[in-house]
Amino acid sequence: MARILITSAIPYINGIKHLGNLVGSQLPADLYARYNRARGNEVMFICATDEHGTPAELAAAKAGKPVEDYCREMHAIQSELAGGFRLSFDHYGRSSSERNHKLTQHFAGKLADAGLIEEVLETQVYSNADGRFLPDRYIEGTCPNCGSEDARGDQCEVCTKQLDPTDLINPRSAISGSTDLEVRETKHLYLRQSTLRDQLDQWIDSQTDWPVLTTSIAKKWLHDGDGLRDRGITRDLDWGIPVKRGTEDWPGMEGKVFYVWFDAPIEYIAGTAEWADANGKTDADWERWWRTDKGANDVKYVQFMGKDNVPFHTLSFPATIMGSGEPWKLVDYIKSFNYLNYDGGQFSTSKGRGVFMDQALDILPSDYWRWWLLSHVPESSDSEFTWENFQSSVNKDLADVLGNFVSRVTKFCRSKFGEVVPEGPAYGAAEQAVIDALQARLTTYQTYMDAMEIRKASSELRAIWTLGNEYLQDAAPWSKFKEDPEAAATSVRFALNLIPFYAALSEPFIPDAAETMLSAMNATADWPASAADALNALPAGHAFTVPEVMFAKITDDARDDMQTRFAGKS
Ligand code: 2FM
Ligand code: ZN
Repeated sequence: MARILITSAIPYINGIKHLGNLVGSQLPADLYARYNRARGNEVMFICATDEHGTPAELAAAKAGKPVEDYCREMHAIQSELAGGFRLSFDHYGRSSSERNHKLTQHFAGKLADAGLIEEVLETQVYSNADGRFLPDRYIEGTCPNCGSEDARGDQCEVCTKQLDPTDLINPRSAISGSTDLEVRETKHLYLRQSTLRDQLDQWIDSQTDWPVLTTSIAKKWLHDGDGLRDRGITRDLDWGIPVKRGTEDWPGMEGKVFYVWFDAPIEYIAGTAEWADANGKTDADWERWWRTDKGANDVKYVQFMGKDNVPFHTLSFPATIMGSGEPWKLVDYIKSFNYLNYDGGQFSTSKGRGVFMDQALDILPSDYWRWWLLSHVPESSDSEFTWENFQSSVNKDLADVLGNFVSRVTKFCRSKFGEVVPEGPAYGAAEQAVIDALQARLTTYQTYMDAMEIRKASSELRAIWTLGNEYLQDAAPWSKFKEDPEAAATSVRFALNLIPFYAALSEPFIPDAAETMLSAMNATADWPASAADALNALPAGHAFTVPEVMFAKITDDARDDMQTRFAGKS
């Protein structure tokens, strides 16, 4: 039994995520977690909400709530939606947890002890009315280049000129509109990650099995220009993890917090500690996943994320881990994804364009989305959600192939033999041929699932479902029944045995449908040792029930309505 630690990039707290976010990390991570549990491996699957940073503060202000309350409420909402999509986290933590405060401060202390933290004096715009320093993009004013009155401190969106806040004419705070601004000096901590360049380079070179998408981004950042320049890891914000050196105060850093990207990946570790706390476990129970001196040597650690997150996970977070000088577990495999686009454009939160997690569950059950998203996951290039494609996948794969197979054979059996598996003579050549084909596909399916080749795995699974349909079509027990009811019984027994086999294999993709199939067949979801074993699991006389319709087809009218509803405002 292997031990697999799985983390998904942790979603920002400020708002409900769209399907593009979901398919870019949490959903494929869930697929892999479910598969590994089914194969009998010990799995620890961690995700959390990413709760710090200016966007979280501003979203709370916009909602008119104290940021703590806002984060608590949004965490509950995101957690509920994760449940709705059947994301099987062992723990869904919060980067604002006490555990993460302590661990983040601990890492900063260790990095400082190792001489990897530098104190840097900077100048920054301070807003007296807001009582805070303003990040560049929260300063607005008139563009010196084109005269637009809404240029931001980093760029004018009208003429695209890159700006410094001090370039703006009549600068004002984007938060309050106040023009009472001044330039002040402020001290920040920088992580000297450039000193770890060679170590990181060698480590990435040794990862020969990583996806090209992951290594190419990592390499580009390592070698292009200022990719690995030292980075500020502190901010002048109220909300966040107070800057401390371990448990000690850090002179000169009073009132400052760590940068959100410094503490977010540490939450993978802290989230595992939160899991221990929430389940009455000890520190040793979580440390055996993370500390190589405490049992984590035999752990395989896999991270899932969108491509924009790769630099932080291949360089910054490993720099934190390596630089600490402590025996923390480094990631073994990084599965990264391209983007999912929406119907000829991009998903857009501000324009309400595309389908968001809450809306998706209001319209259709989660399995419909899980199947489409996972079978179209943007693995080797960006992919696109279209309603036609979604409709066709659901109607063909789920309704016509899988759903129809289950319904047809169970209903036929009920009408001719009752709700028990019929006997009939032993399987013959036709059944053996299907068993052989299934065995070959089962082996391939496992290989793809082990390798996280998700699209290929979904094609195999579809092909496995299709084999059942073709068998039933050829065996045609309904036409055989009159002259040879015994032969029909064998065909039905064989087809009924396919249902729990399908349930076990499909569970990582469509867990609710798998559950429906298993409970209808009064069977358990054991991973099949072989196709031959699986096809003999239900003996003659085994009782079952006909399940409800598993998948309803999406009509053209419904498809058109949804397309209009989610087109967004331009
Ligand atoms: O891009 C994002 O959605 C970030 N919130 C991901 C953070 S992943 C990690 F570092 F924890
Ligand atoms: Zn301009």
